[in-house]
Amino acid sequence: MQVWQIDDRFGLERLKRVERDTPHPGFGQVVVKIHACSLNYRDYLTVTGAYNPRYRLPLIPVSDGAGEVVAVGEGVTDLAIGSRVMGTFSQAWQGGEPSRERLRSATLGGPLDGVLSEYACLSAQGVVPIPEHLSYTQAATLPCAALTAWNALNKYRPLRAGDTLLIQGTGGVALFALQFAKLAGATVIITSSSDAKLEQAQRLGADHTINYRNQPEWHKIARQLTNRRGVDHIIEVGGAATFAQSLAALRVGGFVAIIGILSGAAATVTLTPILMGSLTVQGITVGSRDDFHTMNRAISAQQLTPVIDRVFEFDQAPAAFAHLAAGRHFGKIVIAVQ
Ligand SMILES: NC(=O)c1ccc[n+]([C@@H]2O[C@H](COP(=O)([O-])OP(=O)(O)OC[C@H]3O[C@@H](n4cnc5c(N)ncnc54)[C@H](OP(=O)(O)O)[C@@H]3O)[C@@H](O)[C@H]2O)c1
Repeated sequence: MQVWQIDDRFGLERLKRVERDTPHPGFGQVVVKIHACSLNYRDYLTVTGAYNPRYRLPLIPVSDGAGEVVAVGEGVTDLAIGSRVMGTFSQAWQGGEPSRERLRSATLGGPLDGVLSEYACLSAQGVVPIPEHLSYTQAATLPCAALTAWNALNKYRPLRAGDTLLIQGTGGVALFALQFAKLAGATVIITSSSDAKLEQAQRLGADHTINYRNQPEWHKIARQLTNRRGVDHIIEVGGAATFAQSLAALRVGGFVAIIGILSGAAATVTLTPILMGSLTVQGITVGSRDDFHTMNRAISAQQLTPVIDRVFEFDQAPAAFAHLAAGRHFGKIVIAVQ
């Protein structure tokens, strides 16, 4: 089979297309013929070595893929040849609380081989069925970005109709959060560096938009938009450059989901707003297979379709990563494998 792998050193230029043996399923495993995979920012960081320079090479990158089961190992009873499935981000996190083992050693696209490959051998417990209304291309966008957004809005402090949610940016996680929030009946404020992207977000249902380049003190506008009460819930992806403003934008008792650290991890913050404002700061790490099932029920019930920016061919994989790094995308970047 053909795979893309980070060869002997990290770096986009070290991403090589090579031939590997097609896998056979062991006990409790299935082989999935990958039809499509989608990129997350983590995949780019993994390829460049910024995510974890200690990952063993060669490594097949990319965590999120969708395809059909073509071989079933002994002991697998709930999947058959032809089943349409998506891989779970962590192959070991079935449900319950996250743990070091579930998050560090069992995730696809590092340290485990990922899905930028014609076939992938996965645990039968590490796949979930694709919602019927979705194509492979659409399904490939769900395992990491969609589930992260879903859990940020539903798992710890469920977003309620009438709540105001502030979403940072218009990346993959952000646009799923926008779609889920509108299904929940929330009011959405979204920030972006691009007016054109903000117009696209409005067409998807965003109620208020703020250009964070032109309006660097965006938390003040968010407070004005809520009659100075503050927002209920924040999707925080900016990190060091945005966290203090997120705290300032929240209402007393508000909730911020820490998802990304795009502008850096080391923030200097005053703890007083958290203490005096009774704020909840919650880290999110994708989610479990049970969470994935729960999200997929909602996606099926609402016939939700992911926002896709562009689909690249398999032989254009390095260009797909470069497109992600350039940051001009709106929605998910997909690589068609078959
Ligand atoms: N914790 C988890 O489980 C988890 C899961 C998935 C992703 N993540 C992390 O979440 C972040 C976003 O991931 P993604 O896949 O959605 O990335 P993405 O598709 O590449 O989108 C990133 C977007 O973030 C926005 N952005 C960048 N700097 C910003 C800033 N200072 N303020 C506000 N927005 C900013 C940009 O929006 P505009 O172009 O509109 O300005 C950009 O398009 C990454 O750091 C990723 O590693 C974490």
